Amino acid sequence: MLDDRGFDLWAGVYDRDVRESDERNEYPFAGYRKLMMTMDQRIREHGGRRILDLGVGTGFLSKILYDDGYSITGIDFSREMLAMARERMPRGLFIEADLTQGLPSKLRGEVFDLAISTYALHHFDQAGKLRLIRDLVPLLDPKGLILIGDIAFADRASLDLCRESTDEWDDGEDYLVFEEIRPHLLDYRPQFETISHTAGILALQLSPEGK
Ligand SMILES: C[S@@+](CC[C@H](N)C(=O)[O-])C[C@H]1O[C@@H](n2cnc3c(N)ncnc32)[C@H](O)[C@@H]1O
Repeated sequence: MLDDRGFDLWAGVYDRDVRESDERNEYPFAGYRKLMMTMDQRIREHGGRRILDLGVGTGFLSKILYDDGYSITGIDFSREMLAMARERMPRGLFIEADLTQGLPSKLRGEVFDLAISTYALHHFDQAGKLRLIRDLVPLLDPKGLILIGDIAFADRASLDLCRESTDEWDDGEDYLVFEEIRPHLLDYRPQFETISHTAGILALQLSPEGK
């Protein structure tokens, strides 16, 4: 598993590596572009414009939204990743912080319509993912939406199939398995969308159905 220095070193070639893995339709990034475009669509359907991006990296998705006038706040522990995001989105707010230590105190008092995260939460085990999700709730508008797009699977059998399809499998990462995390998130009407044999999107809604 990479630390902040590892991501610093990867930053300059990250976008190219991801694109190539997606084009080969291989683990780990098969479906990357489709996932981003699907998240973009879900965000626009929601209607909110204040976005918090966890593990923003080089900012592929946030940049698309930024160009359409969305307000972007990004968090990442890699200085080099953040430097690229800042260059692409000069009016965005970017915070260097390690999310395993909780959400940065700078966010206190802020309100967001959507919290999004792409390809970052596999660096957290299930307890860490749940802790982060719960910490996000007070920062969101009552009609807020959390969207987590990542290497993720509907069930354990799909994860096992993906693991068997590759020699590159990273045992140090912790991929979301919807059927396993779902029972812990029932208050937020969890929904999962499969994007490719390696990727999926978890959606969590704050407002109860019909409100
Ligand atoms: C694989 S990249 C994904 C970047 C971008 N969101 C995307 O979808 O292309 C993972 C990002 O999460 C960040 N990250 C990983 N662990 C983190 C942590 N504990 N705290 C803050 N950022 C973290 C990395 O620095 C990196 O920028």
